[in-house]
Amino acid sequence: ASAKRVVSGIKPTGNLHLGNYLGAVKQWVAMQNQVQADGGETLFFIADLHAPTEWIAPADLRAQTIEMTATLVAAGIDPNRSILFNQTRVPQHSELTWLLNTVARVGWLNRMTQFKDKAGKNREGASVGLYDYPVLMAADVLLYNATHVPVGEDQKQHLELARDIATKFNNDYATDLFALPEPLISAAAPRIMSLRDASTKMSKSNPSEQSVVKLVDSDDTIAEKFRKAKSDADLLPATVAELADRPEARNLLTIFAALADRAPQDVLGDYAGKGFGAFKPALADLAVAALAPIRDEMVRLLDDKAAIDSILNQGAEKARALAAPTLKAAQDAMGL
Ligand code: ADP
Ligand code: NA
Repeated sequence: ASAKRVVSGIKPTGNLHLGNYLGAVKQWVAMQNQVQADGGETLFFIADLHAPTEWIAPADLRAQTIEMTATLVAAGIDPNRSILFNQTRVPQHSELTWLLNTVARVGWLNRMTQFKDKAGKNREGASVGLYDYPVLMAADVLLYNATHVPVGEDQKQHLELARDIATKFNNDYATDLFALPEPLISAAAPRIMSLRDASTKMSKSNPSEQSVVKLVDSDDTIAEKFRKAKSDADLLPATVAELADRPEARNLLTIFAALADRAPQDVLGDYAGKGFGAFKPALADLAVAALAPIRDEMVRLLDDKAAIDSILNQGAEKARALAAPTLKAAQDAMGL
């Protein structure tokens, strides 16, 4: 098989927490390492153009773009091995979106379930950008002739749309300009739940400080949050299946396994028959060992905004070198 070119974006978020790390950032680092080990290329972008499709204060957007970049680099996205940038610095994303808008059909966008979910009852009050967001996503990957795009369940429809747009463009303009990207199937990302209420996911909007481990938390705070995490009085069982009715226990096991890069069942091999009095301190140690270097590097990077700016500039320069010929070819094909 020929080498993969994987393109993926992430919305700029602030106040990042353990759920963001294990469910998104760490997955990206693993993907970078896997794809590159197989001889492929990885392009990662901060989807800052996507952010204002729903209201976000300008100061927040600016800060979150910087914070997200620092987090990615601190966690192991290597700007010398991956092309790391934000959309705004590569104007071809916006320009190709307009061209693709003339190809995409209103009926296709009307079928996008994520727009319906996000707009809710207020469809008439939603921004045109929110409606058109999947076309920007198509441009994001078609610009680079991505061979593979990682997609979660909620993004499958958007990848299909990108393929439909690419196919129609190629047909309408008798060209083979756009390659059709395939989904990149990777191990399912773990879903991390609140440390206080395992029925809700760990989220920055969670009202209880104790329920969310933030990436900026000190070692002591991380350890304390795990020590006080809700668990139960039973011993850990021999099999994961036996945790079906113990959501807090299952969540702590999920976190342990994700941090240790092990299967939950494998971790139970060490802890079956032991209680949380033994498990929680080991989990706290593991979390501190994993998160402390990321936090320290984030703090270091955030203290040098010029360095982050230069990382994004260099990434954008490499991205533009790939994107510009694609845009030019699309314009030529259309007679522009
Ligand atoms: P979302 O709107 O999906 O909550 P966020 O900005 O909060 O997005 O999170 C950014 C990324 O982190 C997304 O990929 C999201 O799936 C992931 N994420 C957020 N919370 C969790 C969690 N509790 N467990 C696993 N992944 C999470
Ligand atoms: Na969230």
